[in-house]
Amino acid sequence: MNALEAKELVVVKIEARHGRVFRSGRARYFLLRHKGELHAVPDACAHRGGPLSKGSVDECKGTVTCPMHQLKTSLKLLMPKALPAVRVGTEVRVVCESETVD
Ligand code: FES
Repeated sequence: MNALEAKELVVVKIEARHGRVFRSGRARYFLLRHKGELHAVPDACAHRGGPLSKGSVDECKGTVTCPMHQLKTSLKLLMPKALPAVRVGTEVRVVCESETVD
């Protein structure tokens, strides 16, 4: 496969719940509520991969604090890495590279 070949993408349905963790391929994501919207963002702290889904979100400061060593990550840095997602009723439909969602 060369870099120009398109990857096969799938749309998966996930219960719309803040903090919901799921996998797409090898990567782990979680649903994060920010400004009233749910986003599917990477569940790995930039420091040592700690689970941001278990951290605390400060909506006012726009940060999530990692539970491992309390590093604060700007939500502005996480959003560009988020998977495309849209909420439909009680579920979120996320565009993933694989169907291995758990
Ligand atoms: S792993 Fe997140 S702060 Fe260290």
